Amino acid sequence: MKTIFITGATGFVGGAIVENLLNRNAGENLLLLVRAENREMGLKRLLENLEKFDIPQSTLSGLTVDNIVTGDLATPENFIQNPVLDSVTHVINCAAIASFGKNPLIWKVNVTGTLEFVKRMNRVAGLKQFIQVGTAMSCVPSQGELVTEQNISAEEKEHIVAYTYSKATIEQLIQKECPDLPLLIVRPSIIVGHSKLGCQPSSSIYWVFEMVLKLGKFLCALEDRVDIIPVDFCAEAIVLLLDKEISNNEIFHISAGEKYSVSFREIDAAISKAHARPAIAENYQQVDFSEVYALRKSFNELYGECNERLMLLAMQLYGSFAQLNVKFDNNKLLNLGMTPPQRFVEYVDKCVLTTSHLSVPELMIVDFK
Ligand SMILES: NC(=O)c1ccc[n+]([C@@H]2O[C@H](COP(=O)([O-])OP(=O)(O)OC[C@H]3O[C@@H](n4cnc5c(N)ncnc54)[C@H](OP(=O)(O)O)[C@@H]3O)[C@@H](O)[C@H]2O)c1
Repeated sequence: MKTIFITGATGFVGGAIVENLLNRNAGENLLLLVRAENREMGLKRLLENLEKFDIPQSTLSGLTVDNIVTGDLATPENFIQNPVLDSVTHVINCAAIASFGKNPLIWKVNVTGTLEFVKRMNRVAGLKQFIQVGTAMSCVPSQGELVTEQNISAEEKEHIVAYTYSKATIEQLIQKECPDLPLLIVRPSIIVGHSKLGCQPSSSIYWVFEMVLKLGKFLCALEDRVDIIPVDFCAEAIVLLLDKEISNNEIFHISAGEKYSVSFREIDAAISKAHARPAIAENYQQVDFSEVYALRKSFNELYGECNERLMLLAMQLYGSFAQLNVKFDNNKLLNLGMTPPQRFVEYVDKCVLTTSHLSVPELMIVDFK
């Protein structure tokens, strides 16, 4: 029987993985790392997150304090001695500071602390697979590229944000310092919403589209494409790879690829339709950042009460990514038998529905922790 140790289960991706594993009910033993003072409080935090995934109470009630390992990757020395970790057969390492903001703990958690944790798990005799959840954007793609899976070589100055640099660095350090680890690296592309629940589990990144449509202008062209997947597809792919027990430094994109990516024109049409209003395409203008900056005094009127500087930062950062027009090849994953993802425009109506009561500034908080 597998004993799966999952980090990040109080988050978006980790929550979806636990949702998938609980719903399939294959009898695995789950151990979940949670930041909390004690296991009772950890269980409470976990359940609060899992409730957003509409998991039946009868299933959730099967989780107890025995599933919880308390710990913080910023101070791994406080949990890595826990003997329960010696029973682990599989790790899914999802925890990270996944923020585009300047969180001072990014390096300590995503690199230093994570490496200590990986080294500890490398000493577990029965460990069969360690899945490191990276991010496809950490390879610093070129504009218009269809990226295939390969090792990362980009330097710090090439990264748009510290977060992607930290994720690239930890992949390299794990490979270098733990060459015998049964490592599998998965690199999800851009995760937006859930194909059935919309943004109920998280509004991460979805707000960018609402922000752009309200502005009517942005840094990318309407024909630029974006590689988006729903979080349940990401979870399903990770669980599929877990079952196949692939390791030995294999890398898999979990992505929409060329075929299932979407253009901004399609996104405009689908979101506007869900809002029952005309698409903005006809009046849309591709502009450079100085034109966006010039509009800053209108942000409060446009978006409701907001932090002007944070809005500008968001537009600059997400604008840089949007302009990339990059797709991440997913043939390696699909060739394993994975069902292709729903295209973003096929489920975005659920994202509209589940966010309609919130303003853009309220929706974006989750990405600037
Ligand atoms: N969302 C995307 O579009 C996307 C795309 C590609 C890759 N990814 C990768 O997917 C993974 C999960 O991202 P996400 O979107 O699910 O982020 P998220 O919703 O912010 O969740 C992050 C998780 O990591 C945990 N965490 C953060 N700092 C920690 C620490 N010091 N010690 C222990 N746990 C800590 C959080 O716990 P708390 O609840 O205690 O804060 C939370 O459970 C990340 O590795 C990210 O790089 C995400």
